[in-house]
Amino acid sequence: MKKTLMVAVVGALVAGGATFALAQADVIKERQENRKQVAAAMRSVKGVIDSKGDTKTVVEAAAKMKALESAFDKMFPAGSDKGDTKALPTVWSDMAGFQAASKNADAAFDKLSVAAGSGDLAAVTAAFGDAGKACGACHEKYRAKTN
Ligand code: HEC
Repeated sequence: MKKTLMVAVVGALVAGGATFALAQADVIKERQENRKQVAAAMRSVKGVIDSKGDTKTVVEAAAKMKALESAFDKMFPAGSDKGDTKALPTVWSDMAGFQAASKNADAAFDKLSVAAGSGDLAAVTAAFGDAGKACGACHEKYRAKTN
């Protein structure tokens, strides 16, 4: 009886641990996928600028980036600093700063959206530059160098 209980408890712990590790791996993949999509949206905006295309299509890209950004900063649960991730420990030690950097990007996407709606390519170009700076500012503090 006692032994059975022990086995059950150990079994539950092992199963729980495995689920936990799996969930962390999933959330790391999810947030990396989120960033891949934000990068793709930025590339699409760059394409419009380079080709002097229709800035109205940038409105959609900006909205997509906003949606991605609002999900992104919630994808850093405790424990997800371990694994195949480039997120630096500063994300967790300075969560307020990390979230502020995300809000900053959010504001840049808003400006991009307004500029895009105006149809002014110069304004879109400037706002795109600012959005790029917002990416870089967060990476500088919270992401490990990629090379
Ligand atoms: C609030 C902070 C923050 C902002 C803002 C931010 N990033 Fe990142 N980014 C990160 C972190 C942290 C990682 C590492 C995630 C990981 O590996 O778990 C990352 C990873 C990435 C990656 C690599 C994804 C992969 O394949 O692993 C790309 C590409 C990227 N970001 C692009 C961008 C672009 C483009 C922007 C701006 C439009 C941006 N990021 C804005 C924090 C940020």
